[in-house]
Amino acid sequence: MPDSTIAPNDLSSFWMPFTANRSFKKNPRLLASADRMHYKTPEGREILDGTAGLWCVNAGHKRPKIVEAIQKQAEELDFAPTFNMGHPKAFELANRLNNLAPDGLDHVMFTNSGSESVETALKTAIAYHRAKGEGQRFRLIGRERGYHGVNFGGISVGGIVANRKMFGTMLAGVDHMRHTHDPARNAFSKGQPEHGVEFADDLERILALHDPSTVAAVIVEPVSGSTGVLIPPKGYLKKLREICDKHNILLIFDEVITGYGRLGAPFAAQYFDVIPDMIVSAKGLTNGVLPMGAVYVKKHIHDAFMHGPEHLIEFFHGYTYSGHPMACAAALGTLDTYEDEGLLTRASELADYWENSIHSLKSLPHVIDIRNIGLVGAIELQGIPGEPTKRAMDAMQKAFDKGLLIRTTGDIIALSPPLIIEKSEIDQIFDTVSSILKNLN
Ligand SMILES: Cc1ncc(COP(=O)(O)O)c(C=O)c1O
Repeated sequence: MPDSTIAPNDLSSFWMPFTANRSFKKNPRLLASADRMHYKTPEGREILDGTAGLWCVNAGHKRPKIVEAIQKQAEELDFAPTFNMGHPKAFELANRLNNLAPDGLDHVMFTNSGSESVETALKTAIAYHRAKGEGQRFRLIGRERGYHGVNFGGISVGGIVANRKMFGTMLAGVDHMRHTHDPARNAFSKGQPEHGVEFADDLERILALHDPSTVAAVIVEPVSGSTGVLIPPKGYLKKLREICDKHNILLIFDEVITGYGRLGAPFAAQYFDVIPDMIVSAKGLTNGVLPMGAVYVKKHIHDAFMHGPEHLIEFFHGYTYSGHPMACAAALGTLDTYEDEGLLTRASELADYWENSIHSLKSLPHVIDIRNIGLVGAIELQGIPGEPTKRAMDAMQKAFDKGLLIRTTGDIIALSPPLIIEKSEIDQIFDTVSSILKNLN
């Protein structure tokens, strides 16, 4: 039997995703096992998880109810199709999620990732208008610095240049609002920035250009995660909602990061008290343990498809693994864990401590902004002239050497620990980051 904790000696075959492959393979950072707040390297060194894996392990690692659920499911039912067939756990899970979601978002479609959830939501939006006799509404509006995964729809509405520039024309009929990041007015804001509600007016400008009657949906992350934790200014999301309502445009929240407790409520929609027409989710749905995404839709969207002869398929969309039994079991074990331990609201209990801790780094070298909300935070560093991203990457390597996993995007350090974190571990994160910043070139 191969021992999975022994580092493989040939790293060349795996072309790694979103990775500096050559640099990684010269200096690999391997994680071989995990328990609650910690990873372990193949040599047995403990690494405190400051990023919940990749923003997904919200309940921490190796949680018994999830492990047990998966083990039992593998013996009971390994796979069953959900195309014109069903299995009980997919329905049970959809009903449980329905109770968690904001009122009115009472139908759920399953996918296998955040990217697939995004595609599902965009396609549903366009098809919905067509089902209502408004086939001219085909345009999709995203936002600069938005991240919506890596498939063609997602990179089209997304606003990250590096993710888009290699891929030609992408999806037609897409436009972008300006992003909301405004360090000149909002640097070092605690929680939601005071300034910038008027950035929502950019949507009206775009709608005037295309005519609102051509627009199907607006998609935004309530808090942009991947481009460095960009927090919506006070009133901004409400204003987007009002503008969408005024023009009968669907509002989609991409909650792949903010969903399942990251801000201190099950969804950011509830945290900000702004209810979209669809919520896109993944990651924390299964605690990252198995791939799964869910798209929540309002009843009127679902019902718009429920016409015509009953033996006909209503919506030509879905994946072989939509509602996979193993993923459903993992998600049910995850929801049990969240509920037993009150994890979907725990971030609100820790938010003040987290905020004060992260902002205590304000005067350290290279720090040009600090942002926080719920149990998410970002420390933006001044980049090294001519060598963008290098300073943050150096910080990441140094953190790993000191036993802490952080994530970087550009020259921004992003932090989003599992929601089971204790205050002493929050101290450990910021003590470590602080000592690194003091010794960084
Ligand atoms: C907001 C958002 N949308 C979509 C995605 C894509 O999810 P996945 O990598 O599971 O496809 C991510 C991933 O980080 C994300 O943060």
